Parts: sequence; C-alpha cells; structure tokens
Amino acid sequence: MPRNISQEQDQISLNNHFNIIDLLTLDHSYLVECINVLKNKNADKKIKLKYAKTFLDAFKKHSAGEKKALYAPLEEVTAFRSTILEYEIEHAIVDSKVKILTSKLASIRSMSEELEAEMTVLAAIVEHHIGEEEKVLFPKMRQDIENKLLNEMGFQFMVIRQFSEKDLQHKPELKEEVSFIKNSSPISSAKYLSRTHKYFSSQQSLR
Ligand SMILES: [Fe+2]
Ligand SMILES: [Fe+2]
Repeated sequence: MPRNISQEQDQISLNNHFNIIDLLTLDHSYLVECINVLKNKNADKKIKLKYAKTFLDAFKKHSAGEKKALYAPLEEVTAFRSTILEYEIEHAIVDSKVKILTSKLASIRSMSEELEAEMTVLAAIVEHHIGEEEKVLFPKMRQDIENKLLNEMGFQFMVIRQFSEKDLQHKPELKEEVSFIKNSSPISSAKYLSRTHKYFSSQQSLR
C-alpha cells in the first residue's frame, strides 16, 4: 500500500537514524580508513591500489550527496555561507582530481611512484577537509539546527548517495532505513531546497 506523504514525512523527521551529521561521519570514517592505507609508505602496493580505487569511488558518491543535501541548503544561510563556499571550492578541486585519477587507475595493475604520490597528496587534502567539517561545521549544525531538519537532510543524503546493503557492513543498525529509502520517492531538488529554505527563514539567529 502506498504510504501517505505526511506519514512518510514524520517517519523521516522523527527518526534520528537519518541524522545527516551521523551519516556523513559514517562515510568519513570509511574514507579515513582508506586514507590511512594510502598514506602508509609501507603498505603493500596491490592493497594500496585496491584502496585507491574504493577511496575514489567512495569520495565521488559522498561528494555528490554532500553537495546536494548539505551544501546547497546551507549556502543560502548567512551563518553558514562563508564556510560552505570554502568547502565547495575544496570539493571542486578534489572532484576534478578524483575524475582524472579514476580513469588513470582503471586500467592499471600496479601503481607507479608518481600515481602513488598523487594519491597520497589527494588523501591528505581530503583528510584535512573532512577534519574541518567535523571540527567546524558539524558542531555548529548540532547546535543551530533542530533534529527534525537534520533527519530530513539525512534522508535526502541517503537517497542521493544511494546507501545500499553493501554499506551496512559499516553500520548494520541502518538496515530499516536502507529498505525505507528503497521504497521512497526522492524529493526533487527544488522541493527540498524550498523546504530547507522555509525552515532557515524561520530561524532568526541564522539569517
Ligand atoms: Fe565535504
Ligand atoms: Fe564530507
């Protein structure tokens, strides 16, 4: 039976498993796992190549979801704008490098010293970027944004990022949410941004 829209809305906004900060942090922890291998000079070359490929793929998905579900609405909010603009520039730089390196790594069986160096530098940039989000942005979001909106944002992130059963090995407790997003229709960008805009316009301290 199709779910009623306002019922579905409540199932999202009242479910703290959808909290976008926790979902982004979960993604970050996987990226950091890859970064640690990429930065390790003694790591086995074959393992490094495998991690390099999964790191590029994971960042690509994370970036797509983060830009649409998080940066797009916060960019419009005075209290977040300057931070978000800096992060967007960092993403633009990393996204283009990810694209180039993804095609370079697609057809090789072992990494040259140059490629290894490129991956190490990229990993260090992403590590710094993730650290800033966790130290600067997330605490401010927890303080300034109510859970109901953080949950709606997380739902949108999960849908765009296409969370699947594969991701559950890192977070088995999200089983119900993963099946929920599969049965849900995505919120269009325009509708999503108008909802977030309505919320932020009502928050005097953030305008
Ligand atoms: Fe980011
Ligand atoms: Fe991030």
